[in-house]
Amino acid sequence: MRGRERGPVVAVDGPAGAGKSTVARKMAERLGFLYLDSGAMYRALALKALQHGIDLRDESQIVDLLRSSQIDLVGNGRHQPTVWLDGEDVTHLLRTPEVNASVSLVAGFPLIREEMVRRQRVLACAGRVVMDGRDIGTYVLPDADVKFYLTASLEARAKRRLNDLKAMGFHLDLEVLGEEIRHRDALDASREVGPLRQAEDAILIDTTDMEVDCVVEMMVDNFRRRVS
Ligand code: DC
Repeated sequence: MRGRERGPVVAVDGPAGAGKSTVARKMAERLGFLYLDSGAMYRALALKALQHGIDLRDESQIVDLLRSSQIDLVGNGRHQPTVWLDGEDVTHLLRTPEVNASVSLVAGFPLIREEMVRRQRVLACAGRVVMDGRDIGTYVLPDADVKFYLTASLEARAKRRLNDLKAMGFHLDLEVLGEEIRHRDALDASREVGPLRQAEDAILIDTTDMEVDCVVEMMVDNFRRRVS
């Protein structure tokens, strides 16, 4: 299905800490679109697996868990979207060091990705959405009208994550965090299904030295030139 039959779709991919969720949310707000954070779905599942004491290497148990889980994303871009897990607001529990350390494992299982991708396509099928993740432009929504791939230096990404965690009351060492991000990037980029990769038709933006509003402006400008 292409853009003429449904509303426009924007895909935003890139590694951890590249600024995807902040700019994707702001872009959705500017366009009056829905913001869909696909990573939050994997995070909600990792959280539930941790809460149930499930072995994170046991794909079949985690698949069963996902099949019996309702994950809802509610957000219009103006605020951080609310993530509901089986009817409970878990937004504030999704970015803890425990979930950060577990989510790539959960997201690496092919059957988990298959089910998540199916759900993500349903969420996006009416269009007028900005979805961010790792495989949105390459796999989840290959027909997206505009695709962006955001990147930034490892140091800049680690600093951003450090500040996010500090704001939540967690104090981590910058170098340790940098290593953790490097490790997570490697897992995300090397998996067989839906690896982190820039789509051939994605617009590359290096956000290392850019203000958030400037990145958003650039993205909105590209969107308007391509989708009129
Ligand atoms: O964007 P994020 O940091 O909230 O993503 C959390 C994890 O989920 C990250 O380790 C990669 C994974 N993820 C994924 O595999 N595919 C997506 N479309 C989105 C996130």
